[in-house]
Amino acid sequence: MSAPESIIKKVKIVAVHTETPQSKTFVLEPLDGWQPEYQAGQFLTFVFQTPYGEKRRSYSISSAPESGEPLSITVKKVDNGEFSRFLVYQIKTGDILYTSGISGFFQLPARPRDIEQFFFLAAGSGITPCFSLIKTILTTGTQHVVLIYSNKTEEVTIFLQALLDLQQKYTKRFTVRFLYSNRFNVYHSRLSKWLLLHLLEEYPIASKDKAYFYLCGPFDYMQTIRITLLGESIPAAHIVKEDFSSLPRLLIPKPPDTSAHQVTITLPQQTYEVKVQYPQSILASAKAQHIALPYSCEAGRCGSCVATCTKGKVWMAYNEVLTDQEIAKGRILTCQSFPIDGDVEIFFPELS
Ligand SMILES: Cc1cc2nc3c(=O)[nH]c(=O)nc-3n(C[C@H](O)[C@H](O)[C@H](O)COP(=O)(O)OP(=O)(O)OC[C@H]3O[C@@H](n4cnc5c(N)ncnc54)[C@H](O)[C@@H]3O)c2cc1C
Ligand code: FES
Repeated sequence: MSAPESIIKKVKIVAVHTETPQSKTFVLEPLDGWQPEYQAGQFLTFVFQTPYGEKRRSYSISSAPESGEPLSITVKKVDNGEFSRFLVYQIKTGDILYTSGISGFFQLPARPRDIEQFFFLAAGSGITPCFSLIKTILTTGTQHVVLIYSNKTEEVTIFLQALLDLQQKYTKRFTVRFLYSNRFNVYHSRLSKWLLLHLLEEYPIASKDKAYFYLCGPFDYMQTIRITLLGESIPAAHIVKEDFSSLPRLLIPKPPDTSAHQVTITLPQQTYEVKVQYPQSILASAKAQHIALPYSCEAGRCGSCVATCTKGKVWMAYNEVLTDQEIAKGRILTCQSFPIDGDVEIFFPELS
């Protein structure tokens, strides 16, 4: 089978801004006529060629689409991290990066005007997609926005000055609470269930059905917040998470049917037939046939690999991204999907 037309696109670094000693914003210029369209909160997946194969990493877009800002990402160096260190320490203006495109479900609700309050809870580089969403709400909406932003120290706080400027510009609509884990005052240090409940008294929710919560930070941080919010009767559909974790999941549960089935994959230019046999997922089987599909984490966490199932039944081993409504519409994460009880047809609306 011949390889399909590549979905990889090129972007040039046209400016680099140092945000903190360990993080930088990269302004990107799409090349070769690519005109990316994105929603606030989405991310770009970058493809790196290494001597030991292709590797992918996703970075949230920190610019806001409606503001006329140029497309930008913000990267924080991770200790011992392979590509974040490369980006923060080596990439410079004029360099070219390769991307498989834009994806992500960390977006505003379908009808943002029905929402009265937006709460953001971000830790460290988790501010990046929140920053894009906050700027979008402040410039295009009328709602009130509360940001609770955790960092180790003020020095490592990404977008500190930009957030203070926004607070000054939108005094009545935007409240920022900075939490620093090096502070001794418990009201300003590490976020806990107790502190979150206290902050919700300080910044009260007017109506639980009209408030949306966006969480981005370490797994345990987001779990604590989510459980606390659910305990406060916030509807699960109003709590949106973005998981930056890149570690593979070690345990993959077994589908109820482990027999091989045929999967028809429709891409804009071509249709492929792939035999999928557990333990290989639909994505892994397509990759083995050199079919270029979008993906990043391969762990059911990012949403890059999303497709729509139009025929047959698919079972997902893990899903941190899709809501029940999206699943009801046939959306699947191909990296976690196995055909069960017969053959299956899927297509990629995002690539059309
Ligand atoms: C949807 C999404 C959006 C994201 N947005 C952003 C963003 O806006 N800004 C940002 O800075 N980051 C973002 N990330 C995180 C980013 O994609 C990378 O995961 C991050 O930069 C680390 O990549 P790395 O190659 O530097 O580290 P890696 O080399 O992947 O290592 C990460 C850490 O894991 C450890 N590690 C690696 N392999 C193993 C192993 N086998 N066992 C145990 N430990 C291991 C390393 O020592 C290191 O501490 C996002 C991730 C996702 C999924
Ligand atoms: S590649 Fe990230 S969810 Fe499938």
